Amino acid sequence: MAARGGFSNKFGFIMAAAGSAVGLGNIWKFPFEVVDGGGAAFVIIYLLCCFLLCFPVMIAEVAIGRKTNLNAVESFKKLGFPRWSFIGLMGIISGVLILSFYNVVAGWTIGFTFQMIQGNFEIGQQFGHFIADWKTIMIYSTVFMIATAYIVAQGVSGGIEKASKILMPTLLVIIIGLTLYSFTQEGAMNGVEYYLIPDFSKVTIQTIYGALGQAFFSLSLGMGALITYGSYVGKKDNLISSAVYITLADVSIATLAGLMMFAFLFSQNLPYDEGGAGLIYTVLPGAFASMGSTLGPILGTLFFLLLSFAALTSTVSLLEVPVAYLVDTFGLRRKRAVWLTAGGIYLLGIPSLLGNGAVPELTEFITYVGANKAASFMDFVEGIASNTMLPIGGFLICIFTTYVWNTKNLVEEVKNGNPEFANSWIASYVTFALKYLCPIILGVISIVTILDKFL
Ligand code: PFF
Repeated sequence: MAARGGFSNKFGFIMAAAGSAVGLGNIWKFPFEVVDGGGAAFVIIYLLCCFLLCFPVMIAEVAIGRKTNLNAVESFKKLGFPRWSFIGLMGIISGVLILSFYNVVAGWTIGFTFQMIQGNFEIGQQFGHFIADWKTIMIYSTVFMIATAYIVAQGVSGGIEKASKILMPTLLVIIIGLTLYSFTQEGAMNGVEYYLIPDFSKVTIQTIYGALGQAFFSLSLGMGALITYGSYVGKKDNLISSAVYITLADVSIATLAGLMMFAFLFSQNLPYDEGGAGLIYTVLPGAFASMGSTLGPILGTLFFLLLSFAALTSTVSLLEVPVAYLVDTFGLRRKRAVWLTAGGIYLLGIPSLLGNGAVPELTEFITYVGANKAASFMDFVEGIASNTMLPIGGFLICIFTTYVWNTKNLVEEVKNGNPEFANSWIASYVTFALKYLCPIILGVISIVTILDKFL
């Protein structure tokens, strides 16, 4: 079997996993989901989902990975339950689908970085044109996929971990700086209010499953990414504190990104509720334009650079899931597995790339007649992969961990590197949540989502 590699220590794992979690989901997706979900009430439900439901699933995923030192499919086999390896396979499929469209959005981000360097703030109003120009976007997303593949090809500690250790702290500094700056703007506090004062009367079942889907996507759960990363973690490392740091990093960056975004949007009187998925691309350049010809390009460039960094550490983890499978299961050399997979996923992403104006059939791939709304091919893939498959993946992991593998074995595994764990309240909560809370809520939400989407 080809050599697998591993993280050099706990810090390396935390940086890589936080890098996977913090991505376009936090900075691009989160703000428009907040608008869609009705503001602060969504934020609160989202936070509850992260801590109460996702955290136990994260522990289960990482523990399964570390116990077996294998990828998302093989790990179920090694635990003695080959029939359950379909969960891992489903995860790989979700990851491949997510990466196929994620890489396109990451391409927009690189494109916007160049536009900001040139001080072209008009690009916000030309967003529709910009993403319809498939040739240019193709160049950017090719560059992005090559960068991702290059990092993954360097291996776990020499590539993934090393890149995350540089990119994550840089990202934190940029986002804190931009958030503080956004607060100094006149009218910013109206945005902060919208973002922080909840109106629960707007909460519907859609708000809840939107928040849950977002939490799963943002924490990279339900598709075996953390089983795969867990398989590279040392036996002496404390999984609980690692998972706490990863969750906190992800939630804080999403919260900060939201604060910054709404502070900018309200201070500029920008139409925050019309942007949809293009929100940050359509409205933020206007915010940067108003900052003058020196500060505007600097902050604009920093922002989109930040977004590109965040996206890169996530695409790396998305690519690593199928790569680890090919390396472990089929004995492929890492480099070969990386370039093959990256190429395949890139091709799979082309309809998503073309479905933003270039090809009408892909742009209006589905028309929701009742709501009179169209969804592009990319929306369609995103809806299936992130909002549907991830919570179902999470549900299956809970069922597997409690009723097949047994939570006793989970606790035994987590005790490595954390001997007191068995008697802690966290162990009691994680066990309880995996047994009852998560499967019930995830099960109901998954069923509602499927009914809503497909019937
Ligand atoms: N968590 C990433 C984000 O928020 O952008 C997206 C993602 C990465 C989802 C890796 C799933 C995954 F396995």
